[in-house]
Amino acid sequence: MSKLAIIYGSDEGNTESVAHRIAARFEADAVDILDVADIDQTTFTDYDTILLGIPTWDFGQIQSDWEEFWDDIQAVDFSGKEVALFGLGDQFGYGDYFLDAMGMLHDVIVANGAKIVGHWSTEGYDFEASKALTESGDSFVGLALDEDQQEELSCDRINRWTEQISLEFTEVFFVDPIDD
Ligand SMILES: Cc1cc2nc3c(=O)[nH]c(=O)nc-3n(C[C@H](O)[C@H](O)[C@H](O)COP(=O)(O)O)c2cc1C
Repeated sequence: MSKLAIIYGSDEGNTESVAHRIAARFEADAVDILDVADIDQTTFTDYDTILLGIPTWDFGQIQSDWEEFWDDIQAVDFSGKEVALFGLGDQFGYGDYFLDAMGMLHDVIVANGAKIVGHWSTEGYDFEASKALTESGDSFVGLALDEDQQEELSCDRINRWTEQISLEFTEVFFVDPIDD
């Protein structure tokens, strides 16, 4: 059985911290946590189940390390892989661009064959526009976290979402909710 990979990029540490909080819900030996700044395309060949974490910066832009990796990710074949996304943003400060980078990453990996799990309802968020919405518009393409404005909601959101994706993934990964 292959491991679960959690791959994140983070400018100021929020997404990195969330990556570790997500990992803490899974069995320790089932998960590898990787900074996108430290990987190359071949990393993806080792994993069939992948979580990708990305914050949005500078009015709808991709986080800097993901930006560096952008050409590489276009060349990764995601067919046969199941991917869940988590995005960080600030819905009040940047409500016209909330979580845009998660939507942009989603579009690339779907074009390259990924099966996406872990859609997340927009209920409880207040924003103007987002590129991270599903076609119906009532869900995000992945877990939406706002450590700037709704930090107190993140623990519960991470617990519920990790439980959800553990049921949606084909491979079995055990999840335990924690209070962090
Ligand atoms: C200058 C600046 C620009 C930002 N632009 C956006 C944005 O366009 N959309 C958004 O949803 N969040 C935006 N944010 C919020 C960040 O995504 C948020 O603080 C996130 O938690 C940062 O993650 P990191 O610490 O992993 O880099 C911005 C924050 C700053 C300070």
